Amino acid sequence: MSSKLSTDQVQQIAKIIDEYRDQQGSLIPVLHKVQSIFGYLPDEAQKQVAYGLGIPVAEVYGVVTFYTLFNTEPSGQYIIELCMGTACYVKGAVDVQHEIESQLGIAINETTKDGKFTLRFSRCVGACSLAPFMTIGEDVYGRVKQEDVQRILSKYH
Ligand code: FES
Repeated sequence: MSSKLSTDQVQQIAKIIDEYRDQQGSLIPVLHKVQSIFGYLPDEAQKQVAYGLGIPVAEVYGVVTFYTLFNTEPSGQYIIELCMGTACYVKGAVDVQHEIESQLGIAINETTKDGKFTLRFSRCVGACSLAPFMTIGEDVYGRVKQEDVQRILSKYH
């Protein structure tokens, strides 16, 4: 995806790169900070980071796609994070996932066309007694069942 960055954004990225330029292993912290400017990592921003740190663009893309921490697409207004840790998985998180996907017409890591929801997996967040566990924005939902999904999502419409 290609997007044009504003002069201000280019300057912000340049500042972050300058802070980390001579440090080993700076790529991930730099990408993390750059992502916080946009909420995701636009193509152009990844390229600027590559040039700025003197790293091949392909290597930056590789890191961005490898780590689930990084997103290459803008997120929806509400991010649904469904835990796929062992406890949640065993208690039926996959059924919840499928229900959310079918209700919203998206797959994991996708955003609804109206820009409202993005669905993501999370690792165990330590709320295993509430498995299956998910969050929507700041809201927390425990022991979510497939049949609860429609009611929960309807709160955000
Ligand atoms: S496995 Fe989901 S909160 Fe621990």
